[in-house]
Amino acid sequence: MDTLTAIHQRFSANRFDQNRPVAAELLDQLIDAARQAPSAFNLQQTRFFAVQDLEARKVLRGIAYNQAKVEEAPLVIVVLGDLKAHEQYEEIANADEQAGIYDQRMAEYFTNAVKTGYADSSRAHDEAIRSGSLAAMNLMNAATSLGLVTGPMIGFDQEKFRKAFDISDRYLPVIMITVGYNAPGNWPHKTRHTVEKLLERNGQPGRKNAFST
Ligand SMILES: Cc1cc2nc3c(=O)[nH]c(=O)nc-3n(C[C@H](O)[C@H](O)[C@H](O)COP(=O)(O)O)c2cc1C
Repeated sequence: MDTLTAIHQRFSANRFDQNRPVAAELLDQLIDAARQAPSAFNLQQTRFFAVQDLEARKVLRGIAYNQAKVEEAPLVIVVLGDLKAHEQYEEIANADEQAGIYDQRMAEYFTNAVKTGYADSSRAHDEAIRSGSLAAMNLMNAATSLGLVTGPMIGFDQEKFRKAFDISDRYLPVIMITVGYNAPGNWPHKTRHTVEKLLERNGQPGRKNAFST
């Protein structure tokens, strides 16, 4: 399935086939697609916490305000952002340098910019949300193209999740994604605003535009 088709076919699922698990290879394919998403400086702070066992999903359901899909979907992936990823950035800069993408001077420049820039915890927080969201979207589009359905969710108690699953406060829960096979009763992809409403076609400095007021 091509990318545009997957984007248009994806919908947020509430119902999942409870008798059809997601194969381990598919989980790997999803994460492989998710990790191709961009991140500022290629910081790659996004991590993925998969919950599959029924008993664990039941615990997660309680943490997600009793939303049934969390138990009924055979796979739930919690996307996490590592708030300390910048402290290990040198490894990434070195890998990109070794791959011949840029030279040592550039690697040193990036390393310095990242270490100082992300010491500000609000920046690390915002970037974790941004990068995690991009990765999550990649994951959901990849899932659609693999014949799966997904449900993005932020309706869960992040602190309870951290406690129940022993996740360090170094990792910020960004979004939860239920994954599985379609079952009867799902709403289709919902309506969207028109392109006209969403787009300023030719922004110019000093000129009134769709977003000036
Ligand atoms: C950040 C985010 C959080 C969401 N949280 C929940 C949630 O907790 N529970 C839920 O049922 N749906 C949740 N949704 C799904 C939205 O309701 C859904 O994507 C939206 O209605 C559009 O539906 P569509 O993707 O099928 O067109 C969430 C979606 C996003 C992007």
